[in-house]
Amino acid sequence: MSTRQARILGVGDYRPRRVVPNSEIVEAIDSSDEWIQQRSGIRTRGFAGDDETVVSMSVAAAQDALKVAGVDGTEVDCVIVATVSHLLQTPAAATLIAAELGTKGAAFDISAACAGFCHGVALASDLIRGGSANHVLVIGVEKLSDITSPTDRGTAFIFADGAGAALVGPSDVSGISPVVWGSDGEQSDLIRQDVDWATAVSSGETAMPHLVMEGSAVFRWASFAMAKTAQEALDRAGITADELDVFVPHQANNRITDTMIRAMKLPERVRVARDIVDQGNTSAASVPLALARMIREGEARSGDKALLIAFGAGLAYAAQVVTVP
Ligand code: COA
Repeated sequence: MSTRQARILGVGDYRPRRVVPNSEIVEAIDSSDEWIQQRSGIRTRGFAGDDETVVSMSVAAAQDALKVAGVDGTEVDCVIVATVSHLLQTPAAATLIAAELGTKGAAFDISAACAGFCHGVALASDLIRGGSANHVLVIGVEKLSDITSPTDRGTAFIFADGAGAALVGPSDVSGISPVVWGSDGEQSDLIRQDVDWATAVSSGETAMPHLVMEGSAVFRWASFAMAKTAQEALDRAGITADELDVFVPHQANNRITDTMIRAMKLPERVRVARDIVDQGNTSAASVPLALARMIREGEARSGDKALLIAFGAGLAYAAQVVTVP
């Protein structure tokens, strides 16, 4: 049996230049800054400009991760991009990003919505442990402002843009625990694109298809089922909540995070990601964005045990414990 293990070597991020406060969102959805903050924790979010594309934001985040890791792009032999907002059916965003980074080898996208980054980390870990790759770049990126209706009361204040990346590489000791993951297609109506592209075109629709969500049902599912999944991930890693240093849940909504913390009985000393407050919910990008920030601000330190968990449309979810690089 192979003894080769995998760990995260570096994390990077890219945040859109334009910071949009609640006051810019509220009129179109008959809401208020107070309501949005109280229901979600969000104060501002980043909306990407025309020149901040899925590809350009990913390249910037990946270059940041490579720099931190001290690894050149030419040493990367697989690029995995998790996104639902690369609006070109083919080729995959990963191939364009790989070309700009000068990486060699495989490049492909995965579609697991908000859970995509954690799926990518699981794939990267097993590709490296199995000997199929040496350095895998995992990127979570979204430009959700392209597929969110500014007049939809249930989503317009939540979704946002950005990119985060992690370089995963070989290691003597395990730095990524086995993933706990799954999906529940029977509830896939809860978060989805409102109509498929063909229907939109044939009906003469001029507006882009956009995301719709049944907020209350998503809230209940995420808060309770995901606390159980998070506990399972700790069990698979062979640690208890007392041994955890950092909790990086998908930045879906601060109230979901609070409910999960209570359900898991997380000790108060565990540092919790709250990137959503000024970044919004960036779907596949939210976990690496939040982790990058915690590392930068000294809240997550090298060697810390961090529990990552992400969940969303599908309903797809994935969780694992990683060692902070
Ligand atoms: N601004 C102001 N009021 C709003 C509103 C908005 N954007 N959206 C709904 N409301 C009002 C409704 O009109 C209703 O008012 P009423 O009680 O006078 O009839 C009230 O708020 C409750 O509406 P409801 O649709 O039940 O909202 P909610 O309490 O479920 O809150 C969310 C909506 C989206 C904040 C909440 O469901 C939620 O957090 N869901 C999880 C979403 C999430 O995190 N998704 C990401 C997963 S990847």
